[in-house]
Amino acid sequence: MKTTDDLTFQPDFHRAIEYFRGQEAYQTSPLREVSGPDGQTIWLKDETSRMGLGAFKALGGPYAVARLIMQGWTAETGEEIEASRLKDADLRAFASGQTFVCASAGNHGLGVAAGAQALGARARIFLAKTVPQSFDERLAERGAEVVRAGETYDDSVAEAIADADRTGATLLADGTWPGYTDIPKLVMEGYTVIAEELRSNFETTGIWPTHVYLQAGVGGLAAAMAHMIRRNWAEQPELIVVEPEAAPCLVASHEAGKPVRADGPDSNMGRLDCKEPSIVAWQTLERSGVRFVTLTEDEGEAAARAVTGLGMATTPSGAAGYAALCKEFPEGAPRAEFRPLVIISEGPA
Ligand SMILES: Cc1ncc(COP(=O)(O)O)c(C=O)c1O
Repeated sequence: MKTTDDLTFQPDFHRAIEYFRGQEAYQTSPLREVSGPDGQTIWLKDETSRMGLGAFKALGGPYAVARLIMQGWTAETGEEIEASRLKDADLRAFASGQTFVCASAGNHGLGVAAGAQALGARARIFLAKTVPQSFDERLAERGAEVVRAGETYDDSVAEAIADADRTGATLLADGTWPGYTDIPKLVMEGYTVIAEELRSNFETTGIWPTHVYLQAGVGGLAAAMAHMIRRNWAEQPELIVVEPEAAPCLVASHEAGKPVRADGPDSNMGRLDCKEPSIVAWQTLERSGVRFVTLTEDEGEAAARAVTGLGMATTPSGAAGYAALCKEFPEGAPRAEFRPLVIISEGPA
């Protein structure tokens, strides 16, 4: 695939939705309602069981794997194909010669592994020391080779890049950096499905959220959501990007006016603990009119307990949007018309 430094994110969300509608495991994830401190409604988009993978990342890696196999086939044979062809023996034979490599804080690796396994390809996933042990088993169940590499997430990214260079495997990262943007845009294109599911729900009811909280690691989810919301939601909410104080790379980049690294200690919001932003996500958020909130470790933990107590078991990463909502409005609704939406982005790790 040609690599450019085009930071523009213009996803073909129709083809992403069409792809998932053709998948047996696909269902719209639930939109739940809970009562805030003063009885107002808070919407929780529940990604904790998305496609059996336990996180919204089930929409990114598997979709990118499928598109890359389709593109590879077209490049080799000249035949343009529909996703339904991926089941055919000749496509599976082609896929069996492909290996997808990535670093992961857990969930992206699971998505890539599941996508590769479903289509007969291979996956090799690099995990830093900080990633919970449970991911090794979950990845192995999905047929991936797991490589423990490095102290931090960034170390594991460097190892995955070096592996792809050395072996000729396809690097399927969820972050972007200079010289590498095209493939992660496919991952982000998969995430657009969440915004479309929500749009269709709110369009039916005619009641739209006033605030949307978007937790961020490298920023792929937040940017995909922000792009879609600004592009085609009938009523425009405030968009709030949420990061750990320990890894505030997107707010730091916003303040610097360019993508910058933000160092800090390890965060217990492990899936958000990314010190380098995706440059495509940064650019997309810059033109989407977002604001930023950072969270302490305690705020993340407290929100995970609170959301789990509401019947949706999750982690500090999964509950970070809820944490930011509670931090901004500890007394409850700031005005009569207040309908916040948060994404519970993963189940228990
Ligand atoms: C559960 C969860 N929430 C949020 C995120 C943040 O997504 P992104 O890195 O695209 O900003 C991740 C990323 O791994 C995640 O796994």
